[in-house]
Amino acid sequence: MPDRAEYWEQRYQEAQIGWDLQGPTPALQAAAEAFPKDARILIPGCGMGWDGEALHRQGFTQVYLSDWAPSAKAHFLERVPDFPEDRFITGDFFTWADNEAVHGQFDYILECTFYCAIPPAMRADYAQAMAHLLRPGGQLLGLLFTFPLTEQGPPFGGSLEEYTLRFGAPFRLDRLGPSPLSIAPRAEKEVFFCATLHTS
Ligand SMILES: C[S@@+](CC[C@H](N)C(=O)[O-])C[C@H]1O[C@@H](n2cnc3c(N)ncnc32)[C@H](O)[C@@H]1O
Repeated sequence: MPDRAEYWEQRYQEAQIGWDLQGPTPALQAAAEAFPKDARILIPGCGMGWDGEALHRQGFTQVYLSDWAPSAKAHFLERVPDFPEDRFITGDFFTWADNEAVHGQFDYILECTFYCAIPPAMRADYAQAMAHLLRPGGQLLGLLFTFPLTEQGPPFGGSLEEYTLRFGAPFRLDRLGPSPLSIAPRAEKEVFFCATLHTS
């Protein structure tokens, strides 16, 4: 079941990781071009951490990664040994996020195939966790799948209607639409979104 660390760890150990791009996500990298180099950036459910690696190599100094699978972290640290190990958080993202110490700590949170990986029943918790982690005016942005939500998954699908509601208050949904930078197999199956946390 995708609500358990063992499920994900086994996927990495058995190399059943069809979602892995073996490189950074073009749409996320393009979005990050606008970020200051000292922005505090979180990538939850980062898997092998390709986007984190790219940002780190580009000189972003405050990149934080999170994933449940120890194997994913080990692979990442083999490739990027100079990344501060304690900034790759293992364990359950939701438990880690439910902590006063991380409240309002991030300027940007990058989404890529994490929302679709968690059990759909946890999607309200996801939005709540992101609102807790971002500073006022901070942004949650990335890619969301648009194929229909069924009980088959992960990946679990979703719709524009759902995302419009999910990332309404306390967010302001600034963007939700096609991504010209989608990789070919995901074109027409995903949208780019940007949700800004209200400042008041
Ligand atoms: C579909 S994979 C995507 C990985 C990465 N974002 C990518 O695009 O390659 C989903 C990832 O979320 C992680 N994950 C799922 N639930 C999690 C949780 N509750 N806490 C931390 N990581 C979680 C899994 O270990 C897995 O690596």
